[in-house]
Amino acid sequence: MKHNDRDERLQRSGVCAESREEWVERAVVCEDGIRESEGMENPLKLKRIHHVEFWVGNARQAAYFYRNGFGFSQVAYSGLETGQRQRASYAMSQGKANFILTTPMTPDDLAADHIRKHGDGVRDIALEVEDADEAFAEAVRRGAQPAEEPHDIKDEHGAIRRAAVHTYGDTIHSLISYKDYDGPFLPGFVAAPLAGDDCGILRVDHIVGNVELGKMQYWADYYTRVFGFHRYITFDDKDISTEYSALMSIVMSDDSHSVKFPINEPAAARNKSQIQEYIDAYGGAGAQHIALQCKDVLYTVGKLQRNGLDFLRVPDTYYDALTSRVGPVEESLAELRTLGILVDRDEEGYLLQIFSKPVEDRPTVFFEIIQRKGSRGFGKGNFKALFESIEMEQARRGNL
Ligand code: FE2
Repeated sequence: MKHNDRDERLQRSGVCAESREEWVERAVVCEDGIRESEGMENPLKLKRIHHVEFWVGNARQAAYFYRNGFGFSQVAYSGLETGQRQRASYAMSQGKANFILTTPMTPDDLAADHIRKHGDGVRDIALEVEDADEAFAEAVRRGAQPAEEPHDIKDEHGAIRRAAVHTYGDTIHSLISYKDYDGPFLPGFVAAPLAGDDCGILRVDHIVGNVELGKMQYWADYYTRVFGFHRYITFDDKDISTEYSALMSIVMSDDSHSVKFPINEPAAARNKSQIQEYIDAYGGAGAQHIALQCKDVLYTVGKLQRNGLDFLRVPDTYYDALTSRVGPVEESLAELRTLGILVDRDEEGYLLQIFSKPVEDRPTVFFEIIQRKGSRGFGKGNFKALFESIEMEQARRGNL
């Protein structure tokens, strides 16, 4: 019960002061011995997350879900009608966030194996680089497992260069560079515009990977070694009370902090870790959640909820303690409470966030909606309330 007293005390006194000290202290400790962000190299000349590709059982229906649920617009299509006989793909876009939803046309396709093993999930976190050949060669030289040798992909709109390397589980990073392509999405796709009702999503903020027990450090080192990322922040089981569905996490980031890949592993706890539940359901390591940044979380989350998306709710008492914990915020407390939006503050500012329930039947991939008002953190102050809520969901699934 000791930690409950501590949590209560922190909440009463406004958790920020103490948590801020821990945050700063750990950030410093963690970066010890690791290259500082000044003068950080970007060995693969990484520009941005180009798109996230999901391999799904029914891409046509998934496209409908992301359009009518999340407000993505369909921009392009590739499939039987365009001469692509192996797979059908729908390119979806909102703000700068791009998704590809792909389904195999035959049972012997690699994507069919992926779906049988993992259910619907993220296959590819594709990165745009200056030069795919150079990035691939450098990544492999630095220890990445090759997945696809560099090759041209072209159509009447021009060409791109594409290669890929493996990361955790069956997930890959495609490395894409543009040559002279000016078509609707990528070569091989034809324009197939179908507008969604935009929900104000701006971009992908971060993508979290869940890896097996004991593998977090390995994959954090992988992103340092191969991509030149640095350790941005670390959360351990002290941040996350062991009574709750526990995890440990290291946030890896490129030097500009525009690409952030937190890596989670399960932590020992009284109950089954939420990360272990994912790994059991996904059949191994994989992408856990995609955080989508928006400019007005009240607008975005209001719309997503009216579209029928399900979000995790924290107990109402969370809002009674909110102002004393995070200080004043510009948003209406009543509206935050109604929508179930969480708030956290650090020394740089605050953030507002909410987490969807898994978007498939297996308790695997889910989404976070996040608005940043200065804070570059991940909502550490919300972990306790959030994990209690996740634990309740796990119990309902019989997985606790
Ligand atoms: Fe997140």
